[in-house]
Amino acid sequence: MKYFSLLFILFLFACVSNNEPQEVNIIPQPNSVAVENGSLKLGSQLILNVNSESLKTVATQFKTEIADLVLVELTNSEEATIQLELDRTKGNNESYLLKISKKGINISAGSEKGIYYGLQTLRQLFLFAKKDNGKFILPVLTIKDEPRFGWRGLMLDESRHFFGVEKVKQLLDLMALHKLNIFHWHLTDAPGWRIEIKKYPKLTTVGGLGNDIDADAPAKFYTQNEIREIVKYAADRFIEVIPEIDMPGHASAANRAYPEFSGGGSKSHPDFTFNPGNDKTYTYLTNILREVATLFPSKYIHLGGDEVHFGNQAWNSDKYVLSLMKKEKLKDLKEVESYFIHRVADSIKVLNKTVIGWDEIVDHKLSNENSLVMWWRHNKPEKLGAALSNNYNVVLCPRIPLYFDFVQNKEHKWGRKWGGSFVTMELTYAFPPDTLPGLIQHINFVKGLQADVWTERIQNNKRLDFMINPRLSAMAEAAWTKSENKNISDFKRRLKPMLNYFEKKGIYFYNPFNPELSPEPIGVDKSK
Ligand code: ACM
Repeated sequence: MKYFSLLFILFLFACVSNNEPQEVNIIPQPNSVAVENGSLKLGSQLILNVNSESLKTVATQFKTEIADLVLVELTNSEEATIQLELDRTKGNNESYLLKISKKGINISAGSEKGIYYGLQTLRQLFLFAKKDNGKFILPVLTIKDEPRFGWRGLMLDESRHFFGVEKVKQLLDLMALHKLNIFHWHLTDAPGWRIEIKKYPKLTTVGGLGNDIDADAPAKFYTQNEIREIVKYAADRFIEVIPEIDMPGHASAANRAYPEFSGGGSKSHPDFTFNPGNDKTYTYLTNILREVATLFPSKYIHLGGDEVHFGNQAWNSDKYVLSLMKKEKLKDLKEVESYFIHRVADSIKVLNKTVIGWDEIVDHKLSNENSLVMWWRHNKPEKLGAALSNNYNVVLCPRIPLYFDFVQNKEHKWGRKWGGSFVTMELTYAFPPDTLPGLIQHINFVKGLQADVWTERIQNNKRLDFMINPRLSAMAEAAWTKSENKNISDFKRRLKPMLNYFEKKGIYFYNPFNPELSPEPIGVDKSK
């Protein structure tokens, strides 16, 4: 009897361990995952079939992305292990259905981008798969997935420090792996102008000189060919690149090159503004924006519009500004600023583009149909409320918890803090709280989330990686995964294999599990 009980227990144990669903490690967490019994064992050479010519580009892209792990050959065979099925009746959106059976893998979607996201999920299943005798073991499962938000962005400031084509491509790769789809490129600011404009070559030969810590650093910028190369690289990964040409403030680099369009500045921010009173400024900026508009297929151009008060004091005594105020009956500098923003927004509209601005633009009452607001001032939630209640489309990127130049651990010395507050991975993950003004009532106007990487304190690639990772993984899940499917402790479990992957790829990261394993790279001392 004892013998039989033991056998029975052993039998039960065997059943349980056989049936135990395999762990699935995907970031961002898909919105529905049903793991069944059994698995699919695959070697390192696979054949893939598409049901539509228009999937060949996506399939080829996947083949390149997974080449480190498996060799994928595109065929026309119904016998292929991976079947990609485009079904336009499912709608032109980012959702996908991924099924793994004991026989093979099927991904179906209504659009190429849906198929691409299904392939990113599959790529992670391969990346983090258990192996047996050199074979990948994938669980039998069904994943039905679609994003919470359509805008899942990352902004990189390359004015303060310039990182270059290869680093930007590596960031785009990382974004694609996390299903992020917007790269907001902050290309101009006070320290340097980083985009070639053919009509005004001094913008880069003079304006491109220097960076935030060394005014004499050689000129660094992207040529128009490099911009096209990046835009194409991003598009292959379903990432839209949105350029920002910051104005009327943050314009010191441009003003070094073409001082005739400067509106002056303040003691701490010299030559900070474009001149809003000089009619020639508008011709100049429209010519710049025209070149920008042809380089970037995105429907958006970001005109900045932030922090003008840092350096518009010289407007008070500028003859052009004074005569504009008289002519247009503008009663103060705020109205001058509004005049400027409206005129540039009109130019952007003529170029068939939609304006994006930082949340200051809400005060200027631009048409809500032709503009989008980025809410960044976390200490001014009323600005978010005002934008949403006036039916502006809004992207949420508040400093806390979405500015990645903030430290992520209180022991870190080199990043930003706000009072005593900083940006832990957990805070980023938990965003957005339902309590944000207008969020629940106007959720249809909330386009999504974006992490912003300002680089005053980030002067090299290692530090950039450290500040981005792993908060980018947390932000990707906050943007993709519906709140009811988010779970921070499960996220942390899934993050561990992701960190191993970063390590293999030579991507530096802050290790939230073992901070001592990831010393903080020296940053920039901003106290001087
Ligand atoms: C900003 O951080 N000035 C948008």
